[in-house]
Amino acid sequence: MSAAPHARPLHVVVLAAGRGTRMASARPKVLHALAGRPLLAHVLDAATALGAARVTVVVGHGADAVEQAFAGHAVHFVRQEPQRGTGEAVRIALDAQPATTADETVLVLYGDVPLTQPSTLAALVAHAHDALALLTVEIADPTGYGRIVRDAGGAVRAIVEHKDADAATRAIREINTGLLAAPRPWLHAALARLEPDNAQREYYLTDVVRQAADDGLSIRASQPAHAWEVTGVNSRAQLAALERTLQHTIAQALLDAGVSLADPARIDVRGTLACAQDVSIDVGCVFEGSVEIEADVTIGPYCVLKDCRIARGTRIAAYTHVDGATIGADNRVGPFARLRPGTVLGADVHVGNFVEIKAAQFDAGSKANHLAYVGDATVGARVNIGAGTITCNYDGAHKHRTVIEDDAFIGSDSQLVAPVRVGRGATLGAGTTLTKDAPPDALTVSRAKQITVTGWKRPTKEK
Ligand code: UD1
Ligand code: CA
Repeated sequence: MSAAPHARPLHVVVLAAGRGTRMASARPKVLHALAGRPLLAHVLDAATALGAARVTVVVGHGADAVEQAFAGHAVHFVRQEPQRGTGEAVRIALDAQPATTADETVLVLYGDVPLTQPSTLAALVAHAHDALALLTVEIADPTGYGRIVRDAGGAVRAIVEHKDADAATRAIREINTGLLAAPRPWLHAALARLEPDNAQREYYLTDVVRQAADDGLSIRASQPAHAWEVTGVNSRAQLAALERTLQHTIAQALLDAGVSLADPARIDVRGTLACAQDVSIDVGCVFEGSVEIEADVTIGPYCVLKDCRIARGTRIAAYTHVDGATIGADNRVGPFARLRPGTVLGADVHVGNFVEIKAAQFDAGSKANHLAYVGDATVGARVNIGAGTITCNYDGAHKHRTVIEDDAFIGSDSQLVAPVRVGRGATLGAGTTLTKDAPPDALTVSRAKQITVTGWKRPTKEK
């Protein structure tokens, strides 16, 4: 997304004071997650993409939680308590943020309408340089929405709320999405003239439309490219449906970019997933944070990949969990592998089932194929780590490092009590508890000598 150039400074006002009763949640609605991020974060992304000079978020219900969640963002919060309508909400926002220039454009967004595309909003803002610009859409069931009333010539005359509409008006299927843009001086004056003379005793933002018609300000209605751009979230069912819509568009973009998806309906991207060509992703994978995958990588079913990079040709097998790792080219990882933050794997590394790696580097050609914990370690090239190997990196107070040099062979069921070093080409016998450095090119083994007791009888129960 790139910032759309526009001549006038843009002030985005986001309405987010409502209760969100139908979410049946203690959490404010705009903090519920879509694709892993709060609804409000998606709306603020759109404001950023438009190059907004100022963003004001109107909060009310759950204001403390919303302000806390977005502390550090370049937005102003204003409180609307109690909530007496969308018109009052916008007026409060403008009162709290005096105009810096006379030619400011105001764009009103809803905190619970997360997927409006910047191109749709840029068109709305462009229309608003000398007009009231409305975003409208025709829907099959307009129940509950404000209706767009046009005159015989097709010009918009008013918006009539469902609760205030007669039967003829209720038959209109073009509805108000709620998103609009207008020149600030006119809008500010129009908001000051609102009266709550309607079924809900509220200050309706939509009443400015009738004022524009009376003032001779032109009214331009435009439509989004896709209906889902203006879908609001009022319930968990609507949130879940919108999640599927968003995931579907992400999956389509991946397919278009040359990625194979075993089932486009069974992938979840909660962040950014950048894939080169001929990446293949099996069903049920979840991608979180920022994930970068190079060409010819295969991801098996039910993997969770978070904040990681995977170099070309690597195969990740089923049920692998990756978080904060850098994986080299032509690796074999999984099934059931867990790569934790600070894992850096070179080329041709093999990590097998039930292997956990944390804050450890593996150079090219090294293998840990079964049942191992390798934490806080530096592993050289062509090292073989046997099944059941554990780096004992934690003494209860501090973490210590294990160094395993090139071409070392760690026998099965060894414990490496850090800090400790295994020299180049060294071999550890199976079952070694290594507490001192193992010299290079030698066999080190710490194992009680094997004995056999002849004539020994197994205990038996008395009859
Ligand atoms: C509003 C529009 C209606 C439109 C519909 C689209 C008005 C009067 N009506 O309906 O024409 O079809 O949206 O969904 O504008 N909010 C506040 N403060 C308030 C009231 C609402 O911040 O005092 C916020 C809500 O949190 C929400 C948004 O404004 O994000 C819309 O409020 P909501 O009650 O959902 O919309 P309606 O008034 O029913
Ligand atoms: Ca709503």
